[in-house]
Amino acid sequence: MEFVDLHSHVLPGIDDGAKDLKESLAMLKLAQSSGTQRIVATPHMMPGTYDNQWRDIMLIATKLRHHLLRNGLTIQLEVAAEVRACPELIHWQQQGALPLFGSYQGKSLLLLELPSTHIPRQLWNLLQWLLEQQVVPILAHPERNRGVWAAPQWVEQWKARGGLVQVTAGSFLGGFRSPAQELAEYYLKRQLIDAIASDCHNLQRRSPDLRAAHQRVQELSGSLTADYLFYHHPLALLSGAR
Ligand SMILES: [Fe+2]
Repeated sequence: MEFVDLHSHVLPGIDDGAKDLKESLAMLKLAQSSGTQRIVATPHMMPGTYDNQWRDIMLIATKLRHHLLRNGLTIQLEVAAEVRACPELIHWQQQGALPLFGSYQGKSLLLLELPSTHIPRQLWNLLQWLLEQQVVPILAHPERNRGVWAAPQWVEQWKARGGLVQVTAGSFLGGFRSPAQELAEYYLKRQLIDAIASDCHNLQRRSPDLRAAHQRVQELSGSLTADYLFYHHPLALLSGAR
């Protein structure tokens, strides 16, 4: 099986993902050997915690691509970021410094992360504003957000208002605190998921290997759905082929 992974922390030394170039290359090697054709590096942009800027992220990704070539790895590395919902986001967009990627219905995509503890009150305004800016946010792993745990059906509203949803592969394997697994399965059943991605941070506990989760989703929903969520739809989002 082949995969397209829209969420990963494979850039070296920039957040809580790959520590150095050696770990980056090992992660990308594992991704490639386990079937991932294309992977989007999405380091955190979270003011105060990970003060990464889009220009620096792109530079690091460019360097990493050279190392991939030099090491004979053929996996395609794309670049974006996992952007925390924060006031700075508005400035970044106005300065052209928001990491947009792919395309969905003629709009650009943004991987958006909520605080893990709650759903910010201004989120609907932010969603509306982003859509007006021709940007569609993909919500990163709502099944792991404590605010969503209190109101799981909130994700249906998010989709109805024009947002997209990425669920983390490990959630289907019990890799995160309960009820992440139950919610991942619930969203799968309700067809609310647009992409399943690794959100890999290292080689062990949060690895880029998507095979076991793909297998599990196949058992739950069949191979057409699994292939759609691990390959066809992420590929379409990435290439704008819709
Ligand atoms: Fe992430």
